Amino acid sequence: ISLHAVLVNGFVCKDPKAVTAEDFFLAAKLDMPRDTKMSKVGSNVTLVNVMKIAGLNTLGISLARIDYAPLGENPPHTHPRATEILTVLEGTLYVGFVTSNPENKLFSKELRKGDVFVFPQGLIHFQFNPNPYKPAVAIAALSSQNPGAITIANAVFGSNPMISDDILAKAFQVEKKTVDWLQAQFWADNHN
Ligand SMILES: *[C@@H]1O[C@H](CO)[C@@H](O)[C@H](O)[C@H]1NC(C)=O
Repeated sequence: ISLHAVLVNGFVCKDPKAVTAEDFFLAAKLDMPRDTKMSKVGSNVTLVNVMKIAGLNTLGISLARIDYAPLGENPPHTHPRATEILTVLEGTLYVGFVTSNPENKLFSKELRKGDVFVFPQGLIHFQFNPNPYKPAVAIAALSSQNPGAITIANAVFGSNPMISDDILAKAFQVEKKTVDWLQAQFWADNHN
């Protein structure tokens, strides 16, 4: 970015005359299974967003492949800028989202192969593979070229620097040593 560039929340558009088909293309190999063994939560999210395809800039759409190990999950998280629509390609998934205060109502469902579920923008949601033997795979579309992902546990217990354990002990109504234990864990990102 040059000193005189205008800063925007996103990416500056390329000169239209310089745009090629490659700007709208990615050999993403989304047909290939991803490794879930290294993930503590047993999932691997492969994103195809504006960081991967420059031509998505301003278009308000992106894609993800999600691989789930047996009993793996994509842990509770939110997308601040996107609604998500997900379909199961292989296996089954128990999925859900929670509405805002004061109801905090859980909408959940067990999905089979071919089923579709919607996670409204900004709401905390998750997917879990209840099968102890077989992996599961989903494809999700999101209504932003840059949906953002906030994994709840990572943001709360794995922030840098850490949130004061006094604050979290009161917030979660637990002892400080419980918070300290949680903060000592390694909160890895399952996104690629
Ligand atoms: C996801 O899978 C890819 C390819 O199998 C692997 O290179 C990557 O390390 C995995 N990421 C996570 C977060 O497990």
